[in-house]
Amino acid sequence: MFRKRPEGSAATVWVTVEGREVQVPAGASAAAALLLAGLAATRETAVSGAARGPYCLMGVCFECLAEIDGVPNCQSCMVTIGPGMAIRRQHGKRIATPQ
Ligand code: FES
Repeated sequence: MFRKRPEGSAATVWVTVEGREVQVPAGASAAAALLLAGLAATRETAVSGAARGPYCLMGVCFECLAEIDGVPNCQSCMVTIGPGMAIRRQHGKRIATPQ
């Protein structure tokens, strides 16, 4: 489930989390970036507004939904970060966009 980073691996990537620049180890997930930014709660439920955060970190629980590069409802634990990626918490249910 969890992989140890290779010894001497120091590559990092800069991403934006809630508008703030955060340096994250290359190959990490967007959920890891949110956690590294100090955000334990990454979304609020659509019904009660209760705070939720990454739980399983393997694509099962859907508690890590976030907006990534403007796309809502992304399972942030399943998305590998890239340079300049913009990650935001998701508030309530997503707003449908016209197709
Ligand atoms: S943390 Fe469970 S699906 Fe992402």
